[in-house]
Amino acid sequence: MAMNDVLPEPLPADPLKIAAEWLAEAYRRAEQPNPNAMVLATVSAAGQPSARVVLCKDIVAEPGYVHFVSNYHSRKGLELAGNPRAALVMHWDHSHRQLRIEGVMRQSTPAESDAYFASRAWQSQLGAHASQQSEPIASRSTLIERLDAVTRQYGAAPQPGGAGIPRPAHWGGYMLWVSAVELWVEGDARIHDRARWTRQLTFDAAGSAHTGPWHSTRLQP
Ligand SMILES: Cc1cc2nc3c(=O)[nH]c(=O)nc-3n(C[C@H](O)[C@H](O)[C@H](O)COP(=O)(O)O)c2cc1C
Repeated sequence: MAMNDVLPEPLPADPLKIAAEWLAEAYRRAEQPNPNAMVLATVSAAGQPSARVVLCKDIVAEPGYVHFVSNYHSRKGLELAGNPRAALVMHWDHSHRQLRIEGVMRQSTPAESDAYFASRAWQSQLGAHASQQSEPIASRSTLIERLDAVTRQYGAAPQPGGAGIPRPAHWGGYMLWVSAVELWVEGDARIHDRARWTRQLTFDAAGSAHTGPWHSTRLQP
């Protein structure tokens, strides 16, 4: 979509399909080092929002969640444990597009997190063991010593036929189940094109997500 493109009229039924297409296009265009970078906002028990960049692993349009990985004991992890409501923003500057998402966070299953952890580079797996993300540490050299210790424990590289590195229990996937989406396309003279979609999102006693139909509305820029 070029600078002057606009959102389809009438608005499409499912905004997440467009969101997934936008992400795929950002990969294809390869104009930014991390086309999957997204800002994740969480809220503390005291109501203080905080935001940081994480990498989107996938936008799963059907049934409708965004996947990323992190540390369950990090600041974001603790805030999400207390309040699973969260928001995401992706900005593709070269494509003149912004994607805003709101929803409710659930952890991936341990089996899903195991599979994803095993697919990561060996050095990344070592790093996940070495870092207690968001905890204070006395010095950078202390962190390097920890990395050296886990490297001695598991080896500097995978060995043929050797055991893999187990996933730390505090590391794993998150799924932000989506209840609201805004697609934004830059327009000339700040007359941007915006539309917001919302839907009901509930979880049953077994923890399965249930989503209602999308409702859409165009918004003034
Ligand atoms: C480009 C980029 C990608 C990042 N990707 C991740 C990620 O996928 N998962 C993650 O936990 N932190 C990622 N980080 C680090 C986070 O921004 C943040 O520093 C960290 O998760 C700790 O945040 P917290 O203390 O608020 O929990 C990334 C940072 C940058 C700049």
